Amino acid sequence: MIIINQTVFLWFIKTNICGHPVAKMRKRHLDLGKGRRKHYVIKITTEKDIPMFDPRGDNPFDLLDAWMAEAAEHEINDPNAVALASVAEDGFPSVRVVLMKGRDDNAVHFYTNYTSRKSGELDGTGKAAMCFHWKSLRRQIRLVGRVERLDEATSDAYYHSRPYGSRIGAWASDQSSPLEDRQTLADRVQSFSDTYPENPPRPPYWGGYRLIPHEMEFWIDGESRLHDRFRFTKEGGNWQVIRLYP
Ligand SMILES: Cc1cc2nc3c(=O)[nH]c(=O)nc-3n(C[C@H](O)[C@H](O)[C@H](O)COP(=O)(O)O)c2cc1C
Repeated sequence: MIIINQTVFLWFIKTNICGHPVAKMRKRHLDLGKGRRKHYVIKITTEKDIPMFDPRGDNPFDLLDAWMAEAAEHEINDPNAVALASVAEDGFPSVRVVLMKGRDDNAVHFYTNYTSRKSGELDGTGKAAMCFHWKSLRRQIRLVGRVERLDEATSDAYYHSRPYGSRIGAWASDQSSPLEDRQTLADRVQSFSDTYPENPPRPPYWGGYRLIPHEMEFWIDGESRLHDRFRFTKEGGNWQVIRLYP
């Protein structure tokens, strides 16, 4: 008589009756290859499915605004968070998240500490790339371009729009430098709060950048990984757009 213990029994049920995930994958792979048992219809997203995503003749910044507005409705927080890549002198890239805080006709804006690692790299090369990713929308936007510091008036205006604590934080943080311990940071916060009990001026080492893209790519998730991609490239002052394979 064969005695089957509970573990073996459950394993048998899982792999033979419910269909183990790996077994399922193999089966699907075989079906696709031979096309015998199941006929797969691979759905390709077209312009009809995503009417707003027809970028011909559009200004890509308008599309960025539209997607950002949608993201603001669906993301759990920080829809304006964007990965920012810079390159060091030795050619190594580095990437971190910043918040996009506005734009003008030709550039997107963000703010940071001018003595930080990123600033050294941005000022050093004058080049950067960005990547927005909105999980809730399954969309991505990539930007590549030149980068420069924002004018003082724009940085001042943004700095003064921030809550008091963030303004003092900008004074207190020697961003990207080694920090002995958190108490040191707390002491600096206290010290700058004492110096500026109200209306702190913008620190000379803190301000904005504008990234002026010459390339903007919009990506939207499609079924079977058959995503849709459009790349805008600025040529002679005008945006040209092409569709790319996923
Ligand atoms: C959601 C999010 C938003 C952030 N926003 C900013 C920002 O707007 N500016 C900034 O300097 N750092 C921001 N940071 C922190 C940066 O990712 C990074 O840690 C910091 O700027 C130091 O980077 P660096 O050493 O490469 O210069 C943010 C981080 C996260 C996760």
